[in-house]
Amino acid sequence: MHPGARPDVGPPPRFTTPEPRLGFGAWALGGRGWGPGTDETDRIATVERAVERGITWFDTAPAYGAGDSEVLLGRALKGHRERVAIATKVGPRDDPRGSLEASLRRLQSDYVDLVQLHEALDGWEWRLEELATLQREGKALAIGLCNATHLQLGRALEFAPVVSCQGPYNLFDRDVEQRELPLCSERGLAFLAYRPLAAGLLTGKYRTPPRFGADDHRHAIYWFHGPEFARRERVLARLRSMAAARQVSPAALALAWLLARPGVSLVLAGARSAAQVDDNLTALETALSATDVTAIDTLVAQTFTPPRAGAETRARATAWGARERYIVERLDGSTSCEAIAAGWTDRGREPMVAAQVKVFVDQLAERGLVRPDGPPGDPP
Ligand SMILES: NC(=O)c1ccc[n+]([C@@H]2O[C@H](COP(=O)([O-])OP(=O)(O)OC[C@H]3O[C@@H](n4cnc5c(N)ncnc54)[C@H](OP(=O)(O)O)[C@@H]3O)[C@@H](O)[C@H]2O)c1
Repeated sequence: MHPGARPDVGPPPRFTTPEPRLGFGAWALGGRGWGPGTDETDRIATVERAVERGITWFDTAPAYGAGDSEVLLGRALKGHRERVAIATKVGPRDDPRGSLEASLRRLQSDYVDLVQLHEALDGWEWRLEELATLQREGKALAIGLCNATHLQLGRALEFAPVVSCQGPYNLFDRDVEQRELPLCSERGLAFLAYRPLAAGLLTGKYRTPPRFGADDHRHAIYWFHGPEFARRERVLARLRSMAAARQVSPAALALAWLLARPGVSLVLAGARSAAQVDDNLTALETALSATDVTAIDTLVAQTFTPPRAGAETRARATAWGARERYIVERLDGSTSCEAIAAGWTDRGREPMVAAQVKVFVDQLAERGLVRPDGPPGDPP
């Protein structure tokens, strides 16, 4: 048995628990869309190491590796089914029954512990009702939503026994702090944080923008390029030093930050090898003080404050589309991109996320209409 293994792992605690826990995100294990795939023996060994080290929550989806992530989890977790929880998803345009039944076959299980609607697009209400029916039939022990706005979550709670919300959350990507996380705490929903390492960026291993192949989905992620990469790297340079001072990896520091946030139930850390599982688990021994958390938050807030739009830019924006005008009107040098995006989403039309604000502001900076990453003020 590997050093640090826990032979006495009991059944997984389910949903909201007083302390946040580290779970396992199994997207990359699907072996596709994440660069050169590792061989199946290594992927099985990665899951086995997670179980051996006491991880009891596994998150997957039919979309991960076109079903291969579920197949792999099914094989690796077969002998441990009673003491682990498996959460899967139903695609936003898929038939819930057909999708979940196919997942169960791939997972070699009669039930999943949680089935989540992967996105709340058109028709999400009836799909969620279908998931509730599948729950009554025992095919899922519970149902939840992923990537839903606070408005959709509030509506869902009126007609379905939803227990959880899964959304992106790490020290750079913080939209959920505006509305969804407080709502989950208030209404007793578990919050499952995904992409806790920003798809690997927060491990600190990329000092220059990485070149992913065209078939690697990270190729299209905006924080691996341009001004957003540069901003994140400025923060990461400091995080590397903070981590070194504690003799932990930047990944462990980033996960420990998330485990210290109020309202987080499960941190779904992806891992592609047993060594990454071991490294990520050191986060559990990396207790951050309130001062450490504040220091990280201040660093991030200072690096990501959007600029102020001057009078000329505001005047030009009156001729632009509603979303662009809305953003420019709120570029006051202190309102965060997350707050700007949440205010738009509150209006109940199509949602906005901070990433859209940042990309648009970077375009304004490129055109000389706001000062890029400098002190707030009128453009030069
Ligand atoms: N509901 C949704 O819409 C949604 C969306 C995204 C993700 N998710 C869930 O959240 C889980 C986690 O997100 P994610 O897997 O996309 O990203 P992540 O957890 O932020 O990053 C995981 C990746 O980072 C690298 N990594 C992890 N630990 C490392 C370490 N200690 N040292 C060095 N590199 C390390 C690995 O990739 P490399 O080795 O290739 O660098 C790994 O695949 C997913 O697996 C999935 O279950 C859900």
